[in-house]
Amino acid sequence: MRSLDIIAQKRDGKELKAAAIEFLINGYVAGDIPDYQMAAFLMATYIRGMTKAETAALTMAMAKSGDELDLSSLPGCKVDKHSTGGVGDKTTLVVGPLVAAAGVPVAKMSGRGLGHTGGTIDKLESIPGFRVELAQTEFFSNVQRIGLAVCGQTGNLAPADKKIYALRDVTATVASIPLIASSIMSKKIAAGADAIVLDVKCGSGAFMPDLKSAETLAQAMVDIGTSVGRETVAVVTNMDQPLGAAVGNALEVKEAIMTLQNRGPDDLTKLSLALGAHMLMLAGRTASVEEGERILQELLVTGAAWDKFREFVAAQGGDVKAADNPKLLSQAQFRLPVPAPKDGYVAQLRADKVGRASMGLGAGREKKEDVIDLAVGITVKCKVGDQVHQGDVLAEVHANDIDRGRQAVAEVLEAYTVVSEPTVSPALIYRVIR
Ligand code: URA
Repeated sequence: MRSLDIIAQKRDGKELKAAAIEFLINGYVAGDIPDYQMAAFLMATYIRGMTKAETAALTMAMAKSGDELDLSSLPGCKVDKHSTGGVGDKTTLVVGPLVAAAGVPVAKMSGRGLGHTGGTIDKLESIPGFRVELAQTEFFSNVQRIGLAVCGQTGNLAPADKKIYALRDVTATVASIPLIASSIMSKKIAAGADAIVLDVKCGSGAFMPDLKSAETLAQAMVDIGTSVGRETVAVVTNMDQPLGAAVGNALEVKEAIMTLQNRGPDDLTKLSLALGAHMLMLAGRTASVEEGERILQELLVTGAAWDKFREFVAAQGGDVKAADNPKLLSQAQFRLPVPAPKDGYVAQLRADKVGRASMGLGAGREKKEDVIDLAVGITVKCKVGDQVHQGDVLAEVHANDIDRGRQAVAEVLEAYTVVSEPTVSPALIYRVIR
């Protein structure tokens, strides 16, 4: 087999055999195939696309390129949850304890934030003492003992994806559905999931700006999961405006805590219940999504989900006092209001612009090495559909540097469109793809 022939076949639109894809991926990880050949292959794939069988073969070749976590010693069906990334998306912090409180174990590897979207691991680190790096034995024993552990991705999980993603980033080949779908699913499969619930975000703050492309990506990932024996459900959800009110690490932890205490924002609560209910169904705990939502809602009301979060924080070395009293989490020095420019109704609140404003304050990183400020961010007070009067506080900026704070106020104001005619609050969940 020669990589040149494989590249030529893809260039000419022919379907590749799994063995050819494995040869290319293994050769690239081993350093036998140079970047320029992999770049040519990625561009040919970007232009020609891939069949379902090719995408599944690419996914499995990448999943098998490094360590694979074996969760089989943990009892029951292990269901993972993954979001394609959004602004204010703190659902993992809510869904993890909720599902664990319902008796379904959650053993989850999460990532850090990059660009204008946040990451669960950074958010958890805003709880003083919380350890996100767990040795495998501790990770497993926590899942066995309390039903929940969340840690950062270990070093050698799907190294092919790591290397290929870096190359895609500099060769204009990121925005390809088979490449994105295989990249995400290879990591989920290597992390040991038996079944996977995907939250595919759609809108201004997401990778996929429109419903059609989000649905295509969701379907591609469901097809991959199904074809490799991992039951997969994708929920396509709105990311035109931030989820909930808080954007920024400690602010989002505080909002997740309120949600677990059953006093969180409606959209975050609703989405967490829906994603959790799909996880319960895939784990065989319930027969319908409605039944799962009822069970999970009850766990919010009784305080069982909140108790599970406290247990989880303690198990990973976090300060439970800070969870009980979120004023003990990092607080920014300045709070600056964003005033409504006129009377009217909020027609738009661009999630991407809010995410970038938060990043400008220091809540996110441009490059992996950047150090972030856990305290800063934005609290949105008015969302699409809300009526506002001139001077009302649309949002609040939490800053540790007054100039960066003022800049963020201007950026958040730009994210809002206020019109004179009444507007309606948009749908939160567009579609479920099984
Ligand atoms: N997230 C990933 O993990 N991979 C992609 O290609 C895009 C988003």
